[in-house]
Amino acid sequence: MILDKEEKKIQSVAIIMDGNRRWAKERGRSPQTGHTAGYEKLLKVLEWVVEFEIPYLTVFAFSTENWKRPIDEIKHIENLVQKVNDEQIERIKKEGVRVIFIGEHEKFSEKTQEKIKNAEERTKDCQKLSLTIALS
Ligand code: FPP
Repeated sequence: MILDKEEKKIQSVAIIMDGNRRWAKERGRSPQTGHTAGYEKLLKVLEWVVEFEIPYLTVFAFSTENWKRPIDEIKHIENLVQKVNDEQIERIKKEGVRVIFIGEHEKFSEKTQEKIKNAEERTKDCQKLSLTIALS
């Protein structure tokens, strides 16, 4: 990210996660591979946003339209959402990042909904940065 570290004036960054399938297709890979790459890039962006002390990061990760995607693809995206709680949340919490999920989550599996609630609960007192993930 091209930012002057001394100019810590940016308050909010919002990202629409898009182009995952195109990225994968260009490389002869599955949509799932593209979503995994998008997820990994998001973790990198989060590192940058923490480094530059930007207080708000909002990510539009799954639209209501996306429910029309093949079930395997949706399940893969759900697995990535679960991974936030299972693999990243301690590190995220240590960085002072509060994770908030917005959207209609009822259509996601109960397991995914539990992980969403858990991630929010575990980071609810963090105040350095708010990461809002919009899902459905
Ligand atoms: C849009 O790209 C992206 C999605 C439908 C899903 C993105 C979500 C993730 C990578 C999971 C992220 C997880 C968390 C926790 C935020 P596209 O598939 O529409 O790509 P295209 O524009 O090339 O068709």
